[in-house]
Amino acid sequence: MSYSTALLTPDTWADFAALVDAHRGVWGGCWCIGFHPEGFGASPEENRERKRARTEAGTVHQLLVYDRVDGVDAAVGWCQWGPPGEVSRIKNAAAYEKGAGEPPDWRIGCVFTAGKHRGRGVARAAVRGVLAEIRAAGGGVVEAYPEQTEDRKPQRGAYLHTGPEELYAGFGFTRDRRIAKWRWVMRLSV
Ligand SMILES: CC(C)(COP(=O)(O)OP(=O)(O)OC[C@H]1O[C@@H](n2cnc3c(N)ncnc32)[C@H](O)[C@@H]1OP(=O)(O)O)[C@@H](O)C(=O)NCCC(=O)NCCS
Repeated sequence: MSYSTALLTPDTWADFAALVDAHRGVWGGCWCIGFHPEGFGASPEENRERKRARTEAGTVHQLLVYDRVDGVDAAVGWCQWGPPGEVSRIKNAAAYEKGAGEPPDWRIGCVFTAGKHRGRGVARAAVRGVLAEIRAAGGGVVEAYPEQTEDRKPQRGAYLHTGPEELYAGFGFTRDRRIAKWRWVMRLSV
């Protein structure tokens, strides 16, 4: 299936906000701010404002995936990425720092697909679009921090916060090192 995509900008903010609102802020009000250096505010509203401020300032890299929903184009997923300074709060940071070598040029932080659109290639379209953006920006070493699903009981997508390993392996990412029981640093040179 092929989807259209667009970057998160002030022009597409309303599409992003509608998707997040439809999922009660995502994880109770994260608003996709958790990977940014400022982190969570005191409330979902503050998280929303922090994300909006970044979007207005152009200090966010996020690709939205669109599909037709009830006859109109709607954002149904996203993938967030950026240089390490923009995507600084990764999960299992202490374990990550312990074995850290050269930092990557880019990090993929959050990936999300609307509940009713899962299992139809939305996340794959999002990561494909992000890699094309990175290539257009000059490429470099890209890291993602996905979850192992192999040799583990089946996981609902809802619990795969940073995406499944297979999603990234499909684009050529390979395991670099383990940073939690089920989470790996994976790398790709673009
Ligand atoms: C994980 C998630 C992003 C997957 O999105 P999706 O659009 O359903 O994924 P895709 O259909 O593009 O799947 C791509 C590949 O990922 C893998 N995959 C997807 N869901 C999977 C699951 N639940 N278990 C194992 N592998 C899975 C498969 O290999 C799949 O390829 P295949 O369908 O050809 O086998 C989605 O379930 C989600 O949004 N979960 C919540 C994540 C979240 O909360 N993020 C924000 C908090 S940080």
